Amino acid sequence: MNGSGWTVDADGVPQGRWRECLEAAIAAPSVHNTQPWRFRVHGTTVDVLADHGRRLDVLDPTGRELLISVGAAAFNLRVAMLARGHVPMQHLLPDANEPDLAARITVGPPTRPPVTAVMLAQAIPRRHTNRQPFSGISVPAEALADLCAAAETEQARLVVLDPVARNAVLDVVRIAEHRRRHQPAYWRELSDWTRPGAGRRDGVPPEAFGPWDALETVPIRDFSFVRPARRRGPAPFEHAPTIAVLYTPGDSPYEWLRGGQALERVLLTATVRGLASTLMTQPVEVPDLRALLQDPAGGYAAQAVLRFGYGPPSAPAPRRSLDDVLVHAGRGSKVPD
Ligand SMILES: Cc1cc2nc3c(=O)[nH]c(=O)nc-3n(C[C@H](O)[C@H](O)[C@H](O)COP(=O)(O)O)c2cc1C
Repeated sequence: MNGSGWTVDADGVPQGRWRECLEAAIAAPSVHNTQPWRFRVHGTTVDVLADHGRRLDVLDPTGRELLISVGAAAFNLRVAMLARGHVPMQHLLPDANEPDLAARITVGPPTRPPVTAVMLAQAIPRRHTNRQPFSGISVPAEALADLCAAAETEQARLVVLDPVARNAVLDVVRIAEHRRRHQPAYWRELSDWTRPGAGRRDGVPPEAFGPWDALETVPIRDFSFVRPARRRGPAPFEHAPTIAVLYTPGDSPYEWLRGGQALERVLLTATVRGLASTLMTQPVEVPDLRALLQDPAGGYAAQAVLRFGYGPPSAPAPRRSLDDVLVHAGRGSKVPD
């Protein structure tokens, strides 16, 4: 397509730097590892499409967490592009006639890659959701300030909770997790996304479930309870977890995409800092419990509960291949599976 490595071949399949950036995009976190995205490259532009066929109808009927996941993938694309020396020009929800088109990102003018972008881009393959017990070592204040600054850079707000607020929020997480145990529709959905299968490249694999905190100090989502053969064994977790809540200034599809970008910048910043992280979004998925997390003064909407700390390595979750998520520009269809 052009001489700077942003190329597509004669069949419209991205090559070179495009491929590297798209590989970065698909390494993003997604709710239940649904990977609800597709990408369409035309010339020096990539369209990031939301794949609503992969929405979790029980857990996420409005598609909020789906768009947060898509936003995280768009962030990885942006940062990978910047780390390769080009300013990403992003337009969210650019075409009302194509509602699945979540973001359009164009390769902008060349620039000297900022050190931060290079570090964040290098952290993409090292970032994993870590559901292991963390050590009791507290996270330094400067590292927490970095995480909050990362959220602010993306127009979101990360609030690191003091012990009283932390205990209250963890209570709400526990209530959400326990309520789900009484919802067969939730079990069925969880079962679909945790079913092991030879060659399966989405969903949460048993190796990533982590152990069970028998004291429930850290109420991580129990991906195992629909799979008795894979039930989590008990392990002692940290007594005083570091917990934060991510907020966005509003609560629309646009804000969810922005929130996903903020989430991924925070998670990658944590990775750069050597911190492990866990998402615990159970209460944000239940409207009356989510209301307990809202910020009544500022009007900010809670999007995720996060845990940070120092943990052992965690198992990576699989990803579908790039060819599975490419839509050919012009042809308007997915590359065959
Ligand atoms: C919007 C969103 C919500 C998530 N909620 C949870 C959660 O409640 N509990 C959890 O353990 N992981 C949660 N995750 C993490 C995903 O399960 C994880 O990203 C996915 O399995 C891929 O694994 P990876 O992050 O290690 O690449 C969430 C991720 C996203 C983007």
